[in-house]
Amino acid sequence: MDLEPTLRAIGNQAQQAIESAKTLEQLEEIEVRFLGRKGELAGLMKEMASVSAEDRPKIGAFANEVKMDIEKAMEKKRSSLGSAAINAKLSNEQEDVTELGTRPPEGHLHVVTQAIREFTDIFERAGFQRVRPPEVDWDWYAFESLNMPKEHPARDDWETFFMNALSSEKPREGRMLLTPHTTNGTAHLLKDQKPPIRAISIGKTYRRQIDLTHLPMFHQFDGMYVDKGVNLTHLLGIIEYFVKEFFGPDRKVRIRPYHFRFTEPSFEIDISTDSRMGKNGWLELGGAGMLHPNVIKAAGLDPEEYSGLAFGWGVERTYMMKEGLQLDDIRTLYKNDLRFLQQF
Ligand code: DAH
Repeated sequence: MDLEPTLRAIGNQAQQAIESAKTLEQLEEIEVRFLGRKGELAGLMKEMASVSAEDRPKIGAFANEVKMDIEKAMEKKRSSLGSAAINAKLSNEQEDVTELGTRPPEGHLHVVTQAIREFTDIFERAGFQRVRPPEVDWDWYAFESLNMPKEHPARDDWETFFMNALSSEKPREGRMLLTPHTTNGTAHLLKDQKPPIRAISIGKTYRRQIDLTHLPMFHQFDGMYVDKGVNLTHLLGIIEYFVKEFFGPDRKVRIRPYHFRFTEPSFEIDISTDSRMGKNGWLELGGAGMLHPNVIKAAGLDPEEYSGLAFGWGVERTYMMKEGLQLDDIRTLYKNDLRFLQQF
């Protein structure tokens, strides 16, 4: 059987059909009709069996040519119909430029980051550099060099997160831990820098606690100033400066004797409540004192020559005190609930 005329006829029909197609949908139907798996060309190919072995390669090549021509014409038509469709759409469509757009949601810094920046700013103006103490540290910096002896309650396994690691090269460093306070920053500063040192260590701290008023991770900041002749009036001056800057000029500062291992004397600092808080009273801000001679000694300095002041308190707590914020559950700060966070 000579398939050539039939093939040629199918080719011509297809070309004509493509030529007269008006829409992309029509073009698709034509494609199915001629090139589809059950289309005319495929149907004809079944007849190949009846072609003599000698003619088969020639007919095969011709069939391929017809098919490629159809595909080429199809592609050409498709792109011209496609751009026609776009043009038609463009000329019919009208853009209403007065219609309000949708604003993408805009984030802002977390309230704790804002607080840290505010504290940093206040202390930088007083000549303190901000440092970030290590969160993962050695016992030496968190406890031992701060005059906190082995039997101190904070060094208990139930109080601090200890890790199963000892420093083999530096036996003095002791066990590895997640620092429970940023006072370790002071120990590092004393090792790494020469007085005068005026710095504020702000960072994350970790303790084995979680309930409505405690978090296993929270932030603290620890200020220190070490030099020759640093005394208590410097300490009171800097605390007073901070309180007025951060809480407002009307707030008063009061110190009460207290006990910390790394300071002597030690104090707790209270600030007066403001009228917004209803009652007149005092709120506890944090701890402070003059660095203990043993701490100065552990840093390789002579306590007869150098002295230092120190103070430290919690970032979250202090910020809440300023805002007059009473959180029923302090964990709300870290729950990523936008309804809460968007308020700050
Ligand atoms: N590190 C103490 C704590 O976590 C706070 C503190 C008290 C820091 C007195 C100081 C200080 O620098 O002088 O409870």
